[in-house]
Amino acid sequence: MTETLFIQHFGKEEARKISYYVEKMEGYTALKKAISLSQDEIIGEVKKANLRGRGGAGFPAGIKWGFIPKQSSKPKYFVCNADESEPGTFKDRDLMRYTPHLVLEGIIIGGYAIGSNTGYIYIRGEYTREAGLLQAAIDEAYEKGYLGKNILGSPFSFDITVHRGAGAYICGEETGLLNSLEGKRGEPRVKPPFPAQAGAFGGPTIVNNVETIASIPFIIRRGGDWFAKLGKLEKSGGTRLFGVSGHVKKPGLYELGSGSVTIRELIYDYCGGILDDRKLKAVIPGGSSAPVLTADEIDVVLDIEPLMKVGSMLGSAGIIVVNETFCVVKLLARMIKFYAHESCGQCTPCREGCQWMENIIERIEHGGGEERDLNLLLDIADNINGKTLCALGDAAAGPVMSFVKKFRSDFEQHIRGKKCPNA
Ligand SMILES: Cc1cc2nc3c(=O)[nH]c(=O)nc-3n(C[C@H](O)[C@H](O)[C@H](O)COP(=O)(O)O)c2cc1C
Repeated sequence: MTETLFIQHFGKEEARKISYYVEKMEGYTALKKAISLSQDEIIGEVKKANLRGRGGAGFPAGIKWGFIPKQSSKPKYFVCNADESEPGTFKDRDLMRYTPHLVLEGIIIGGYAIGSNTGYIYIRGEYTREAGLLQAAIDEAYEKGYLGKNILGSPFSFDITVHRGAGAYICGEETGLLNSLEGKRGEPRVKPPFPAQAGAFGGPTIVNNVETIASIPFIIRRGGDWFAKLGKLEKSGGTRLFGVSGHVKKPGLYELGSGSVTIRELIYDYCGGILDDRKLKAVIPGGSSAPVLTADEIDVVLDIEPLMKVGSMLGSAGIIVVNETFCVVKLLARMIKFYAHESCGQCTPCREGCQWMENIIERIEHGGGEERDLNLLLDIADNINGKTLCALGDAAAGPVMSFVKKFRSDFEQHIRGKKCPNA
C-alpha cells in the first residue's frame, strides 16, 4: 500500500483549522524551508518529483514553473485553478473543504519559486461553502504571518485573493480562466503566448490545479525523490485522487500511488465491484471528456501514458462506471448536451458542431435516428477535434467518436427499433 497524503484528513472538520495543520500535518514547515532555498532549488525539487498536472493535461509542474522568465517588467502571478467543473470530478472539493491550508501553503511556495507576490484562487461559483472555508483559512494564515508582508521575517511578501466564478465550465480552461479573472468574457485565448509568458494582466503566470498545488508542501518537506517514488511508473510521481462514481458498490474518492492500479483493480478490489453484481458495460476513466473504454479494456494501468496507449486519457481522474442496465446512447446524449451548453461559442467548429451532435444523438436516443447519422456524427466530431482554440471541442468530440465506434450496435438498435430498447 502506498502512503497517502490527503485522504486521511478528509471528513475531519478540525483539519481545516491552522492549529490542526500546524500540529498534525507539519503545516507551514515546508514554507519555512522553501524561503531558505533559492528559486532554482525549489523548481529543481518539483522537477525531480515528477509531479504531473492533476487538472487534465498532465504537464510536468516543475517544467512549467521553469518557463517563467526570471526578469519581467510586469508582475508575476500564481493562480490556483479550482474551477473543477468536468463532469465526474470531485477531488479538489475535498482538498479545499478539509485541507485548505495545504492548498494555501502550496500556492505561497509556488509564488516564491517563480518570484510572484500575488496569488489567486479561481473557484467554481457553485463551491460557495469551499470559497468561505478557503477565505477563513486565508484569514488565519495572515494572522499567523504566513501571508502578507515579510513572511516569517523574510523579504518575501505574498497575498492571496479568492475569486469566485459564475458557473461556466470554460472558465476552467486556463486562459478562459485568466480572461474571467480580469473581468472579461471567459473565452480562451490564442496560444502562444502561453500564460508563463503573458498570463494574468499580461504578466508571466502559472496556472496549476488544486491537487497539483496541494502536493507541493510534501515535495519541499520530504524531497522530490521521495515524492517521485510514491508513483510506480517512471514519469509520474506522487499519489492520485481517483473520484469514482456511477455503478460501483462503494463510490467515492480513493488515493493511490500514481500508476499503481489497473481500472479493474480499482473497481473490484477497492470499490467493491459493480452495483447489484451486474455486468460492466463501460468505463470513462478521466472525467466525461475521456474517450470511453469497454468492459474488455479495463486491464489497463490507470495512469497518463498507459491510458493514452489505449486511446483514452487520465484527465482529471474522475472515473465513471456504467453497468449493463444503463443506455449508453442516453449517457452520451446527456454528456454532449453539457458540452454544447458550455461551448463559449468563439470557435465555429465547437459552437456549431457540439449543437449538431447534441441534436443528432438526442434524435437517435428517442427513435428518430437514421442509419447515416452514425457516420455523420463521426464526420462532425472529426471536424471539431483539434480544430479549436481550446480543448473543449476535443472534450466533446472524443466521447462521440469512442461511443459510436465501441457501442455502434447500441446506436443501431435505437435506429432500427425506432426507440430505446431499455425504455
Ligand atoms: C474546457 C476545459 C476545462 C478545464 N477545466 C479545468 C478545471 O476545472 N480545473 C483544472 O485544474 N483544469 C482544468 N482544465 C485544464 C487547464 O486548462 C490547465 O491545463 C490546468 O489548470 C493546468 O494545471 P495543472 O498543470 O496543474 O493540471 C480545463 C481545460 C479545458 C480545455
